[in-house]
Amino acid sequence: MALRTQLRIPGPTPVPEEVARAEIQPMINHRGPEFADILRRVETRLRWAFQTGNEIIVLTGSGTAGLEAAVVNFISPGERVLVCSCGSFGDRFSGIAKAYGADVVDLQVEWGHPIEAADVEAILSQDAGISTVFVTHNETSTGLTNPLAEICRVVKQHGKLLIVDGVSSVGSIDIQVDAWGIDVAVTGSQKGWMAPPGLAMLSVGGAAWEANARARCPRYYLDLAKARQFAKDGQTPWTPAVSVLYALDAGLAIMEREGLQEVFRRHQRVADAVRAGCEALGLRLYARDGFRSNTVTAVSNPEGVDGSQLTKLMRTKYGVVLSGGQGKLKGHIFRIGHLGLVDEGDALAVLFALEQALRDLDFAAPEGAGVAAAQRTLLQTAVPA
Ligand SMILES: Cc1ncc(COP(=O)(O)O)c(C=O)c1O
Repeated sequence: MALRTQLRIPGPTPVPEEVARAEIQPMINHRGPEFADILRRVETRLRWAFQTGNEIIVLTGSGTAGLEAAVVNFISPGERVLVCSCGSFGDRFSGIAKAYGADVVDLQVEWGHPIEAADVEAILSQDAGISTVFVTHNETSTGLTNPLAEICRVVKQHGKLLIVDGVSSVGSIDIQVDAWGIDVAVTGSQKGWMAPPGLAMLSVGGAAWEANARARCPRYYLDLAKARQFAKDGQTPWTPAVSVLYALDAGLAIMEREGLQEVFRRHQRVADAVRAGCEALGLRLYARDGFRSNTVTAVSNPEGVDGSQLTKLMRTKYGVVLSGGQGKLKGHIFRIGHLGLVDEGDALAVLFALEQALRDLDFAAPEGAGVAAAQRTLLQTAVPA
């Protein structure tokens, strides 16, 4: 039996002690001055992390509430939109848009492969009726980061509204909302922010607010214009998840102390180490080389190993909680989350446990190879003390 548990799923992520303590602070009046101070501070800190001067809206709800808000507030039923998908979360964006009656053009890319800017360009060149493009930055289901800067360039050249699911990337992987012209970006508190689930955070730019004034999709709880109005007074329209906001504020304070570029670099180093270690153990990474995510690594279940047995053993014997595959990848891959509160030692600990569990299941992982390869990678990219 494992004495400790390491939560290594791609969200919810481990919560640092400082954040956990913040979360249990006494309750306050959500229409009072203390709440207004916290909300404004969180908005300012999020603008820094999103690399934007745009307005930030904090909603109570999970990341999917953020995605739904990003659909219903900016389009109308019957409006023609392009949804780019290379996995479960891209499909979810498409499903939401369809549920609200959008005329959806689906760009479906084989899972494990990235969305190519050239394909987006081809569709937008042929179909002038498309008003808005939806794209997932970091496809958590396949462990892949799309070449978002290139996609943004194409979308902006065509003058379309650009809405990005950055749920598992903003604050962990470089995403430059203003420099890349992202009109709406969405994330969720339980990812790299080191806070519990419960809040969705969106940046909304000027062109998006103009679209919002025209958009006719039905909405009530997720009405961003209402949220914007209340935010002016340091409030939210409905009772917010106050405790999660305390936690998010504390998580952002930790990120500020570290520095945004340092946060990105740490995620890159840990991810490089995990990838090198997995490959050295004889495992195959699911996402295409060059597009592998710095927040989650998807690994194909090795030949002869039952993935659910592997994740069960990792949890029960070694205390490492991993995710299985989602949707059509169920039973084909497992996923290692490495975002938020994660460092080099965590990467080595996961790889050590993974080697042991694989050996328990008679997979001939070369002895010590995973940890050694990861350590080599870390030493090569070490920042001088
Ligand atoms: C890329 C991406 N989009 C959307 C979501 C949905 O967020 P939630 O599960 O918080 O609703 C997730 C959550 O894993 C995600 O990783």
